[in-house]
Amino acid sequence: MEAALDGTDDIGEGEMRAYEVAIGSVLVCRVAGELFAVENACSHADTPLSDGTLEGYLVTCPLHFAQFDVRDGLHQCAPAFTGIRSFAISQSGVLSVAENVPRPGPPEGPPLTR
Ligand code: FES
Repeated sequence: MEAALDGTDDIGEGEMRAYEVAIGSVLVCRVAGELFAVENACSHADTPLSDGTLEGYLVTCPLHFAQFDVRDGLHQCAPAFTGIRSFAISQSGVLSVAENVPRPGPPEGPPLTR
């Protein structure tokens, strides 16, 4: 699936915006001048991450504060146990979503804690 998203030029540095596309809600973020796209649902309890905060490359869920890296969707701390899907997006705002891409699993090593 490919979709040209309107208005990504207006997303300022450190800002994020949710877009509804065929696969559901996608969160587009601009960090260090680059656009990144991830699914707009926390892997802990599906809360929209667009209601959370973005600091650097980390988006924080508003409900229980799990954090995800918007570059690759990997989760950084509990209570999430898996990451969120990340998607390719061109710098002109064209989103590309491959079908059936799973959420990234837990990292190897000791369990994440806050
Ligand atoms: S719903 Fe996001 S951390 Fe719980």
